[in-house]
Amino acid sequence: MTNGDKGRRPAGPRGHWLLGNTPEYDADRIGFLRRGHHRYGDVFSFDERTVFVIDPKLTHDALARTNHSFVTELAPFGTRPDIDLAARQGDAWMSARRTVWPGLNHSAATAVDHRTVDILDTVIGSAAGGEVDVLTTMRAFTAQATAEYCFGPDSADIPRLLSDNLEVTRPFTAASYQFPAWFPLRRNRRFFQVHRETVETLTGIVRRRRATGVGAPQDDLLAFLLDADPAMPDRTVMATLRGILMGGHGVPAAALASVVRELAARPRLTADLRDEAGGSASGAKATPAARLPLAEAVVKEVLRLYPPVWLMTRTARTATNLGDWSLRPGDDVLLNPYLIHRDPRWWQRPDEFDPDRWLNGRPATGTTYLPFGAGPRVCIGSALAMRQLTLVTSRLAQRFAVESPNAASAVPAFLGRLSPTGLRARFRPPNR
Ligand code: HEM
Repeated sequence: MTNGDKGRRPAGPRGHWLLGNTPEYDADRIGFLRRGHHRYGDVFSFDERTVFVIDPKLTHDALARTNHSFVTELAPFGTRPDIDLAARQGDAWMSARRTVWPGLNHSAATAVDHRTVDILDTVIGSAAGGEVDVLTTMRAFTAQATAEYCFGPDSADIPRLLSDNLEVTRPFTAASYQFPAWFPLRRNRRFFQVHRETVETLTGIVRRRRATGVGAPQDDLLAFLLDADPAMPDRTVMATLRGILMGGHGVPAAALASVVRELAARPRLTADLRDEAGGSASGAKATPAARLPLAEAVVKEVLRLYPPVWLMTRTARTATNLGDWSLRPGDDVLLNPYLIHRDPRWWQRPDEFDPDRWLNGRPATGTTYLPFGAGPRVCIGSALAMRQLTLVTSRLAQRFAVESPNAASAVPAFLGRLSPTGLRARFRPPNR
């Protein structure tokens, strides 16, 4: 909003005369945000079109008004999104989302408990006690688990595709400025190539399953969607499952890497988790997650201190207000769960890792805890994720002593997803 307009724009740092705040932000994103928060308060401008919001109520307001006053930005490119297109895509997604939701609820998630544990055992077992890159290992686990959840017996090609998808989006998360999609860069070409390959592969699986049934009845999400009434077009089934695969892969892997870091740094906690799981008998069946309050508290605390989705973007669909501030169509609002989760106004000892705060009754978090977002676009996989993360936390502690040469120095990286950079670990049998 220019000075001549009636609406109010928040103040903010001016930055470099030509490049604005981008270089300073990209050099140390969370440092920049902390300084801006300290100096300008809960809402401040990054540039003429971008506002950072660290106020919990305004954050929830923007999330609650998504699909109406705001759209979610989908493209990884820095060009202005086509707001009408994003709104239409949002409407189509919401309809598919309502159909798929029951396939991701708590009881559907619980049904795959044993498979979750088997996949974890296989992935960790393949390292044979050697040192591994933790994020890569956790991605191998989540890729397999999510691929099977969605595509059951037809999932063999999917983990590699998921890994390629993460690889090609990495350059777009490392810097805030992006060249437009048409710019002839190798990374842009590669991005579209992987996108095409993913769509073709998933479409092929959907069509074959629709045509042949492949050993029906299956109890995967594809079977669930093919059964929907009214019938979903193949293209919508493919796009819905593609969205779920993408959401269910990199983000939970980032959270699990943070869990591993805490286990490596806290042998006492690992021992308590082992006791909760009923001892270290290798090969023992996993304890049902419903009876793992400590493991669940550890997961909640990890998601508080290291929310993988540490930043969420909304784009104003129309001219609108957020609190006292005016936004024009196309303005971006960046919401920051990380800083809300560490704000001493809402949390006691905010920087301290303390799973106990989640035991003996949930703390009164209100709008101040949002690792899964909020509003109509809240994470659709949150029940599955909590179940999966709780089981994995318990299982790792039960079966292994987790050792890391760099747990203390592997600091969280504020790039696409928040996770400890370069964390390495060994998973060894515990001393009995
Ligand atoms: C630790 C685990 C997870 C965390 C912290 C997490 C977090 C989030 C957050 C914060 C959002 C909202 C983003 C926004 O509003 O801009 C989101 C959306 C989403 N998540 Fe998750 N997620 C996790 C696991 C999963 C899993 C396991 C799946 C699928 C099986 C999944 C699928 C999705 C999808 C499809 C969306 C988009 C929803 C929509 O736009 O309507 N997530 N997630």
